[in-house]
Amino acid sequence: MTVNLTAEALVWQKIAREVAEEYVRPRAAECDRKAVYNFEGMTAAGEAGLLSVWIPKEYGGAGAGILSLAVVVEELARADSGFGVAFAVNALGSFPLLVGGTEEQKRRYLPRIAKGKALISFALSEKNAGSDAQSLRVRAIEDGDSYVIHGEKKWNTGGPVSDLFTVFAVTDPSSKSRRISAFLVEKGTPGLEIGKVEPAMGIRTIPVSETHFKGVRVPKTQLLGGVPGLGFAHAMKTLDWARPGVASQAVGAAQGALDYALVYANRRQAFGAPISSFQMVQKMLADMAMKTESARWLVYAAASAVDRQDPALTKMSAMAKCYACDIAVEVATDAVQVFGGYGFMEDYPVAKFYRDAKILQIYEGTNQIQRLVIARNLIKEVAGLAHLDAYIPKEVQRDHLPAAEGRVPQGTPGA
Ligand code: CAA
Repeated sequence: MTVNLTAEALVWQKIAREVAEEYVRPRAAECDRKAVYNFEGMTAAGEAGLLSVWIPKEYGGAGAGILSLAVVVEELARADSGFGVAFAVNALGSFPLLVGGTEEQKRRYLPRIAKGKALISFALSEKNAGSDAQSLRVRAIEDGDSYVIHGEKKWNTGGPVSDLFTVFAVTDPSSKSRRISAFLVEKGTPGLEIGKVEPAMGIRTIPVSETHFKGVRVPKTQLLGGVPGLGFAHAMKTLDWARPGVASQAVGAAQGALDYALVYANRRQAFGAPISSFQMVQKMLADMAMKTESARWLVYAAASAVDRQDPALTKMSAMAKCYACDIAVEVATDAVQVFGGYGFMEDYPVAKFYRDAKILQIYEGTNQIQRLVIARNLIKEVAGLAHLDAYIPKEVQRDHLPAAEGRVPQGTPGA
């Protein structure tokens, strides 16, 4: 690895690598085959302090930020990309608290998450509300000192093992911009039920479920931030913070697949020589390494942008998520190719990296949505390039670039 990391991130990288090699990689194949959660690995991660990395010191965390989180997730995903997600959903689930929780809510929940005493998940998506997150339908109705939540969430990653859920629900159906609010719902609250556990093609160590809310009554103290109507903004800010984490799962997965491909290519003999001596295989290995390394740089840049609350963080996070997740699929595909027929079989770990990689292009915002977010933000930045108009001749501007007359550009959702 060649990227300069902070001293703090390097410390967390070392700890994560040790946990990954001792508790995660040895169980990766079994947890995938049996579709079981690696509780032993998560306990080890908690005891090593890894679940505290992104949580500020005043709430019992290490206060090491999103860059350190990214390197930790990368190391865990390099050993088992499913475990990387299982770990990272705790950051995703707790970011709403960080971006919008009241002081009391932060003090009540964040120390438990930091100590690994409470696993948390993020319940935003629904059957008919994935990319179009604003159209969700789960309802939270005000009733005295409480809200009562009704409806179903879909693709609740980690739902079945969660102690706490960040749930997004409609509190004001008549409002456009203040329609949604977020709630903190504890496991065991009457009416909260785990529904169908999805039979996924990858990341099988982390259960992904439907989660049902059958009249779940929560006191108003569980309304995130104490003010209704901020839920969509909380969700969007959360995703901005979380996408470098998905991107680092992707870098870890790509590196993990490349590691196995390198070892195999060096050992596998064909035509009387290791296949790593053949130029076509070398080309694949070189491309895999270039893609992985360039994704890593972009992910660290995006994570650092979140840490310093750079105004460009939404765009940076989307770029890192999109690029790293696309290359993870490409690298895992090439890793299978290097293994030839054996790569297609489950005897070797690369088939699992390949199956695990696909979801990266889908969850936490499809890569199509990321491109849309990137483009929207680029277009907003055009004002900063106004001086370039001086290099377009006046008569060309007059004849070819008349001012737009209120047309809605293609690709705008809802247009
Ligand atoms: N930060 C803060 N506020 C934001 C924001 C951001 N990044 N992006 C948008 N907003 C605000 C806007 O300012 C706007 O506010 P006002 O109404 O006050 O003006 C409001 O949110 C609506 O914004 P848009 O008009 O841009 O919203 P949209 O409906 O056009 O959709 C979208 C925007 C980017 C497509 C969004 O819906 C989106 O990101 N969709 C993808 C959802 C997603 O990522 N789902 C993943 C679920 S989690 C998951 O997958 C987890 C897992 O399993 C592991």
